[in-house]
Amino acid sequence: MIAQLPPMGWNSWNTFGKDISEELLFQITDTIIEEGYREAGYEYVIVDDCWALKERDPEGNLVPDPEKFPHGMKAVADYIHSKGLKFGIYSCAGILTCAGYPSSYDHEYQDARQFARWGVDYLKYDFCNFPDNADCKNRYLTMSMALKASGREILFAACNWGTEDSWNWMRSIGAHTYRSTGDIFDNYQSFIRIFQSQLPHFSQSAPFCFNDIDMLTVGMYNKGNVAIGKACTDNEYRMQFSLWCLAGSPLIIGANILELNPAMKELLLNKRLIAIDQDPECRPPYLVSQRSVKIPEEDRENAIEPLRCIKDQLYIFLKILSDNTFVVAYYNLFEQEQEMLFSFADAGIPYASGYGFTMEDAFTGESIGVVRDYQRVTVPGHDCKLYICKLVDCNA
Ligand code: GLA
Repeated sequence: MIAQLPPMGWNSWNTFGKDISEELLFQITDTIIEEGYREAGYEYVIVDDCWALKERDPEGNLVPDPEKFPHGMKAVADYIHSKGLKFGIYSCAGILTCAGYPSSYDHEYQDARQFARWGVDYLKYDFCNFPDNADCKNRYLTMSMALKASGREILFAACNWGTEDSWNWMRSIGAHTYRSTGDIFDNYQSFIRIFQSQLPHFSQSAPFCFNDIDMLTVGMYNKGNVAIGKACTDNEYRMQFSLWCLAGSPLIIGANILELNPAMKELLLNKRLIAIDQDPECRPPYLVSQRSVKIPEEDRENAIEPLRCIKDQLYIFLKILSDNTFVVAYYNLFEQEQEMLFSFADAGIPYASGYGFTMEDAFTGESIGVVRDYQRVTVPGHDCKLYICKLVDCNA
């Protein structure tokens, strides 16, 4: 059985775009093993768009670009498998992929068989150039059935960007993950908007079919293919990674892990955060409170974009994990430092219950002891605080 938990891996698109090769995938594979990513849970090595030639062969088969993949895709899969990892590939439900390569429309069964022969374990299935008169749900169902008929267990990572409210039907057509939004770009507004747009839908993300809020840009610092807007700060990347973990989204790294700085590597390998994403109960986060900061009139005109377009700037979440463990998370989307107050009664633990939380900082592992009734934290601008908690009887 696959996709019992949100899939984790690496994808070529965010950093490398069309500049991909077997050499790159081999190096990424080696790095995943040698630098502890596999141990942390990252498993799929996924090649995105631009791996094929622009024409199918005379039998109608997709052909890997021989300059990029001189030994073909089976050799890539074999190498990745030999290291104990899994291989992901990309196609699209339309006539051409987003970058203009042949796509699987009306070739679903042929392509699925081809992918199975190569040893593919994961198919990202995009939505560009989809004919106006075609039926979106039916085409995703057709590829889902083609994969099931292929004789190989292949994770179906549907990617129709939320079209036709995909959260309502992707599970029933057999997808294992579904990209629910447009593309992420490597800036603060982009990932915040993506997360906010899916807040109402996380309850429709669960084992065997997860809401995929796109590949991470953590650690990219605007190097690569999705560099639009202002690069993120380290604090903003901490927000991004932890929001993805709270959401229980697939964790697909988009940064160049061959050249990642130590702080970002540590973030992507943080066991406590990953455990939040990979918790076996896969519960969505509960929004305890959301509050807007009042922007003084005189500041409004000069306010930078997120201030004008992001409505609610202070979020407090509770996420219930297995084994009587909880996460309390504070997010400050405002530019300036904010004091945030969490009344435990809002999370179902009134003072009179006699219970409190033992709390441990999810980023550092540092214990802050027992907290009861309420917690007041100061959160820097564009930053967050996350605590891993256990209920304790304070009268015992
Ligand atoms: C779309 C997808 C991206 C990426 C590109 C490739 O934009 O949403 O994730 O796969 O296509 O062309």
